[in-house]
Amino acid sequence: GELTPFVDALPLPPVAKSTGTRANPERKDEQIPYYRIAMREMHVKVHRDLPATRVWGFNDSSPGPVFETRSGEPLLVEWANELPLKHFLPIDYTLHGAGKDVPEVRSVVHLHGGRTPPESDGYPEDWFVPGKSAVNFYPNRQDATALFYHDHAMGINRLNVYAGLQGMFLIRDAVEDALNLPSGKYEVPLVIYDRFLRKDGQLEYPVSPIPGKPWVPEVFGNVVLVNGKAMPYLEVEPRKYRLRILNGSNARFYRLAFEDEHEFHVIGSDQGLLESPVALQRLQLAPAERADVIVDFSKYAGKRMQLASDSLPVMQFRVTTQGAPDTSVLPAKLRAVERIKEKAAVKTRLLTLDEHLNLADQSMDMMLNNTPWHAPITEKPVIDTTEIWEFVNLTEDTHPIHIHLVRFQILDRQRIDTNAFFDSRSLEFIGDVEPASGIETGWKDTVRADAGTLTRIIVPFKGYTGRYVWHCHLLEHEDNEMMRPYEILATEPQK
Ligand code: C2O
Ligand code: CU
Repeated sequence: GELTPFVDALPLPPVAKSTGTRANPERKDEQIPYYRIAMREMHVKVHRDLPATRVWGFNDSSPGPVFETRSGEPLLVEWANELPLKHFLPIDYTLHGAGKDVPEVRSVVHLHGGRTPPESDGYPEDWFVPGKSAVNFYPNRQDATALFYHDHAMGINRLNVYAGLQGMFLIRDAVEDALNLPSGKYEVPLVIYDRFLRKDGQLEYPVSPIPGKPWVPEVFGNVVLVNGKAMPYLEVEPRKYRLRILNGSNARFYRLAFEDEHEFHVIGSDQGLLESPVALQRLQLAPAERADVIVDFSKYAGKRMQLASDSLPVMQFRVTTQGAPDTSVLPAKLRAVERIKEKAAVKTRLLTLDEHLNLADQSMDMMLNNTPWHAPITEKPVIDTTEIWEFVNLTEDTHPIHIHLVRFQILDRQRIDTNAFFDSRSLEFIGDVEPASGIETGWKDTVRADAGTLTRIIVPFKGYTGRYVWHCHLLEHEDNEMMRPYEILATEPQK
């Protein structure tokens, strides 16, 4: 039968603890916190009525511990691979970088949304095997927000993340401190992801019927987990709470709403606080997107409120009848977010999102700009310049597109006639331009590129020169060529 919802309490991931200090790679005379975080296999109860599930996590937790950090305060993390030598999910050896010539268990950690130097960014080919580790430097020179650390190993990233290699990384700053938002136990991280759980409690990762090619174009689970429990409940006081929500699913998009359509306020998105709160009854979140949400439970004393995504239960809030007085606020103004003018861009790139059916075996080929991962780098912005990237989605799916290192703003979307584009590469628009609005007016690092639509973003390339990646964040797509390297150059190349 079906699992009974709301029988397990929501777990809170532990807070990551530093294990000492080391020299700051940028200023050798300064000591900064050093964390050692080990990737391990573990067995955890995800639901009262299921036997323990084999998962992968960080230290003793899956999702991993939450990092509590501050803007401008750098730190070092040693990511240690202490995983077993055998993978427990179905590897597709035909995918680029996942052949039988490489060890089957390998990992590399990327801090999604972090302004990180290239050698610490977790380049997909910089994976390491059990017994090895990598030390990454995170300068944290960026605004307060919730970042997302997760595995990024070439060709098996979807399996490693599905196994559980993901967690939240919070950055705080003085702007946030001054707002008097709900904090302490009234601020709750929610890492939301769907999984297919078998009756024996074990994770099932579906496989395709094509012999020798188990890869599938996307994965949808039969149950939603929050912080590692299936459909948990959280006891809350009748007051305001701040929920830090992260969609950690491989492929599922959520439309989160309370069953009675209770209104809540979104105060931040991927890269931090919005200019002002946005009232919503339904929140859409693509894989890897984050939302910073204030929910006021004060009118619900003694009631139970279900949060669901369409008909899929996510979790339940059990509001107690009494609590401590609520002195936190929902401020009318949060932070200035200056819109970048289009004329600031020195270059506009038109980039297609493509899917082709491979007639030989009915498998799906997908790419960015019809270019495979290993082709020479084609996107080479110059540091401290701004570009407009226009994604022409010629497929029938929405693809969440993520660019490493940078934060960007969404300009607009407009539906196009894809047949006209296939015939003559011409952009013929259907319908009106839809400028970014509501929660999409903040700084972003992941953008929904809708099917048959031109999606335009404006990107200041700041931080570091060097090689990074951009990709679709549906992890199945990312593992199958929907990822490209890009390079930030120090100066414009000589023509
Ligand atoms: Cu969330 Cu390239 O990653
Ligand atoms: Cu995709």
